[in-house]
Amino acid sequence: MTDLQKQLEDSLVEGLELIEKATDSREVEDIRVNLLGRKGTISMQMKGVGKLPPEDRPGIGKTANVVKAKLTAALTDKLSVLDSDAAGDSAIDMTLPGRRRGIGRKHPISHVIDDAVEIFRRMGFVVADGPEIEDEFHNFDALNTPADHPSRDIQDTFYLNDGRLLRTHTSPVQIRVLENQQPPVRIVAPGRCYRRDTPDATHTMNFHQIEGLYVDENVSLSELKGILLTFAHEMFGVDVNVRFRPHFFPFTEPSLEYDFSCMNCGGGGCAVCKQSGWLEISGAGMVDPAVFEKVGYDPEQYTGYAFGMGIERLAMLRYGINDIRLLYENDVRFLSQF
Ligand code: DAH
Repeated sequence: MTDLQKQLEDSLVEGLELIEKATDSREVEDIRVNLLGRKGTISMQMKGVGKLPPEDRPGIGKTANVVKAKLTAALTDKLSVLDSDAAGDSAIDMTLPGRRRGIGRKHPISHVIDDAVEIFRRMGFVVADGPEIEDEFHNFDALNTPADHPSRDIQDTFYLNDGRLLRTHTSPVQIRVLENQQPPVRIVAPGRCYRRDTPDATHTMNFHQIEGLYVDENVSLSELKGILLTFAHEMFGVDVNVRFRPHFFPFTEPSLEYDFSCMNCGGGGCAVCKQSGWLEISGAGMVDPAVFEKVGYDPEQYTGYAFGMGIERLAMLRYGINDIRLLYENDVRFLSQF
């Protein structure tokens, strides 16, 4: 090994030591200039190459290149270590308060469904379920709805190409349960329904209902009233009253609509109940004997009552929501209030 080679190797060892000890990027830059700069140690040492015999020159050149490469790599590594240390210091401000993760909440529709189911469960009802894609038999025929009934119109019902449809109410679950069980039957069926409505403050094409059905021997209309009154008390408070009005549904006889007294004004009349003191809730009635015949029950032996309610309607009354569309916009500012 020539003297010059030895000098270069010494410069490498010293240089690496200096780099190792450096504590900031300015120091690293100084070391770089001192070692590898135009007037740096390595350049100065290489000036001696000219005095060497020609056959030694290539070996020296090679050594010089290796030394420079090692020093450059060490300098780069050091800089990146110093950089990430510095970033570590400034990116974590220990004085900042922690960032809270938003936790999801139950949707108001789910709240009302869960509470309604719980109330009916306490009165002996069990939850039943049925498909959202229904056939005409369960959605209409078995519910005694004639072929020319306006609700079957394509304007009101979403039909699929194969003749099936998106159920327009939860009442077909009554049929599915009666087909598969023997009395006594006491079920509630919450779920989605679909109608071709133009959306406005009180209509959406997709909404929810909860259906109720009780079939046994000697079931009477007064029991229906008692069930609905208890439900109203549990859902809206003990001051709420229930009234029945005559109505028509193909699948009940007699049919009625029922109202709850306005929980906002206590029945005196206000803007919520349009000064009437009453709020329309939904329909109900005694199961029509024609429905029993469709599912093979003896109408002489059994009687029953049924009712349906719009979940959105209940939610709007309960939470004072004045536009049904708010329930479906999924605006977190709205949803986080429940
Ligand atoms: N299915 C009816 C509707 O969507 C509501 C209804 C009325 C349900 C009377 C019933 C009932 O169970 O007995 O308008």
